[in-house]
Parts: sequence; C-alpha cells; structure tokens
Amino acid sequence: EKQKKDAEFLASHIKEVTGIEVKTTDKQAKGQIRLVLNAGDTQSEAYSLVVNKNGITISATSHVGIFYGIQSVMKALPITKNVKSVSLPAAEVTDAPRFAYRAFMIDVGRHYFSVPYLKKLIDVFAMHNINYFHWHLTEDQGWRLEIKKYPMLTQIGSKRKETILPTNKNEFDGVPVSGYYTQEEAREIVKYAADRYITVIPEVDMPGHMLAALASYPELGCTGGPYEVATRFGVFEDVLCAGKAQTLQFAKDVMDEIMDIFPSEYIHIGGDECPKNRWKVCGNCQKKIADLGIQELPKHSKEEQLQTWFMGEIEKQIRNRGRKMMGWDEILEGTPSKDITVCGWTSVNASIRSAREGHPTIVAPISNFYFSNPRINKIEGIPSIQRVYDLDPCSDKLSPADQQNIIGAEGCIWTEWVKDAEKMEWELLPRLAALSEVQWTAKDKRNLENFFPRMLHMQDLYRLYGLNYKADIEDAVKKHLEEKK
Ligand code: ACM
Ligand code: ZN
Repeated sequence: EKQKKDAEFLASHIKEVTGIEVKTTDKQAKGQIRLVLNAGDTQSEAYSLVVNKNGITISATSHVGIFYGIQSVMKALPITKNVKSVSLPAAEVTDAPRFAYRAFMIDVGRHYFSVPYLKKLIDVFAMHNINYFHWHLTEDQGWRLEIKKYPMLTQIGSKRKETILPTNKNEFDGVPVSGYYTQEEAREIVKYAADRYITVIPEVDMPGHMLAALASYPELGCTGGPYEVATRFGVFEDVLCAGKAQTLQFAKDVMDEIMDIFPSEYIHIGGDECPKNRWKVCGNCQKKIADLGIQELPKHSKEEQLQTWFMGEIEKQIRNRGRKMMGWDEILEGTPSKDITVCGWTSVNASIRSAREGHPTIVAPISNFYFSNPRINKIEGIPSIQRVYDLDPCSDKLSPADQQNIIGAEGCIWTEWVKDAEKMEWELLPRLAALSEVQWTAKDKRNLENFFPRMLHMQDLYRLYGLNYKADIEDAVKKHLEEKK
C-alpha cells in the first residue's frame, strides 16, 4: 500500500512538472521507474538511484528511503509542457542524510495560517527533505490549539483585538486577529505530514509567552490579572505562576492532550524568554522556592532554578509517556536533565554550549537560520543565501565527541510581521533550499558555487507551484553565473 501511495505521488508530480502521464503498476516490465524495497534497516533514510537506458530504479531498505529517492527524481526532472518524453542523464547515486534531524518551525501564534495552507507548506518542506515540522502553537498574541479541558484557551485566547503597526510607535491597525485548530484538524495535519515522512513536533511555549493563556485563565498568573491577549510584540513580564499547584496541573493537563494528538517522540515546551520579575515578588513562587530548598547559586538565581524545577516536572510527564522533551536554549539556565533536547537559537555559541554540556542539540541560530529576522531580511542577493549555506552545524570549536551531540539543524519563521502566504514564502524561499543542503548533504560535498544551478532549478519549481520566492537572489545568482562564464 505504501509503495503504491509513493508511486502515485511520483506519478502525479511527473504529470505536474512535465505534463506526461505515467501509469502505476505492480507488474514488472521494460522502461519503468521501479521502486524497490530491499530487506534491511527499515528506518534508514538512505536510498540509491540508478538511471540507465533500461529505466530508473530507486532502491532502499525503507519506505522513507524510497521517498527521498523519489524526491531526487522529482527535482531532476526538466520542467516541460506538451512533450511526449523527457530524458534524464544516466547516473548512479547513493545518498543518505548527514543529520537525522532536519526541521523547520512555523509560528502560528502571532498569525494564524489555515489548514490547507499548512499542508502546502508541508509539501514544500517535503521537497526539501525536511523530516520535522516544528509547530509553534501558542504565543502571547494567540493560543491556536483546542484543549478540551480548558475551552477558554481558544474562546478567549485565540483572539486579539488588533496588532501594533511595524512602525512600533504605539500605533495599532484596529484589525482583529483570530483562529485556532481543532484537535481533529491538528490530527489531519499530523497525518498529512506523516504521509510525507514528516513528524509534527508540537510546541506549547511555557512558562513565558503565555499571555493568551493568562487572558483565558487569569488565576494561572502571579498577580491574577486582568490580562489581555497581547496586541504588541516582545517579551512580557506576566508569565505562568510557577508557585501554584493549579498552574502545574494546567501544564500537565495540556501536555496530556498534546501527547494524545501528536505521536511525535519530541514534545517542545519552549522555556525561552521568561522574565523572573513577577516570580521575585510573588508569595506563591517564593514559597515554592523555600519549600523546594532552592538556594542562590553563583551562576543561577533562585528564580532560574524554579523554572528548571517547573520544566523538570513537565519533563517527567513527557518521559512517563515515552516521549522526549525539547526546549529553547534558555533552559540551560539551571541544570536541566541531559535527556532534554535543546534548540540553540540565541546564538551559534548557545548550541556549542549545549552540545558541550551533553545535550542532544539542534542548531537554529537567529543569526543564520531565522528567516523572519527583519534586519537579516534586508540582506539581498548572494550574501543572504551564503549566510544560511555556509553555517556548519557542527562547529569546529567542538571536539569530535561533542559534535556527536549535534543532531541537526532547524530554520524558523516567526510571524510577528508575516500575516499572509506571500510574505511567508518570500521569507522561506529559496533560503530553504540552502538550509536543506546544510541539513542533508555531507560537509565535504557542500559547495555554494555548485549549489547555485540547483537553486535556480528549485526556483523554477517554486514558480511552477505558484510560490512567492525572494527573487533578488535569483537575479544576483544569474548575473554571478553569467560573469563566471
Ligand atoms: C525564540 O526565538 N524566542 C525562541
Ligand atoms: Zn507566582
């Protein structure tokens, strides 16, 4: 059944790209594109591809390997119309990814994106061999997932009355923003992604970035509110109260529903940008610190350790269900369990530190892999691609042993200033193609000059699919290749 689905997936793509109809069959004949599943490691993402005059053979020991072979054929096809046949160069390819973790994150908290649109993005991720979609589901500006035990999270928390203008001068647009995913819709996304060998990692960001939840359930905060779903961006002092038993119960209940919906081994619980000002003066938080016997440490304040404790309690819940906790690098401000997987976002050094401290680590630095950073988005042409392409996730500052802790790389789009598909795609493409090679390709095979022709072909595919890629890069690369001739 899976082979059939994958074959039909390839056939529909061939039709889309070349206009040629191919039939699928389980009977062997001459001149076929054959998908051959061999005995062996059923989890391996490796595949081999042979193109000769007898046809094309994609072989692997797993369905996912076959799928990546298909992706390579799809990317090698010429884009044509009204032709009877196309040819591919003869080749023998053996291929496997460098990193097991190849992710992209989309923030739907700041702006809601529809289920059909997320599916379109998942298709784009699949064509870039991405295997994790990190779905950032909650923010100060909006709670976007139905939680049955806490209905106000979506009734109140998914709506904000307006949004600050990019001028940031206390001017607001007066336009309400709302939207959330039902649990059924979230399951639909999980299934759609799984059909493309992509795992959806849900993120509920806590204990900071929780204003939408606090507006829904003010008793979860230190002051009790009132709170409002945020209409401006940044970091807010009102966060979950880590001292109340009720708050911990809330977080555990939410995690339970999350783990029912999402089969992902990784569950992301945020942990970034959580100011401690409220906790410092909150009777409940201070009592908790005293009850736990937390002492000030030279490197970690009592409140930072309170956060470590809080996250640790959630981690137990996650671990009890056989899953793994993931968090942003601020969780290193304490002494978290080494089992926790860290997304290093604040800098390249954050990932280096995390790997040295023994955590499985994902490299996602704001400086290189945040495609929504307005300052970096001002960079045009080749440098904008180079910034992504040339960052090696395994820093040479790390010992070979510590490099083993780098499990992969992740790109992120935060949607403060991204409210539609046009901007989303402009930020995503073609830098995603550069990230894809960082994630997939062996270091010694990675070469920017060599990448450019492949990137131009990807841009032709984006155009075919009606995706709004950033065109200044294409112009600059074409000029560059012309000058080199
Ligand atoms: C983050 O960008 N605050 C993870
Ligand atoms: Zn408190």
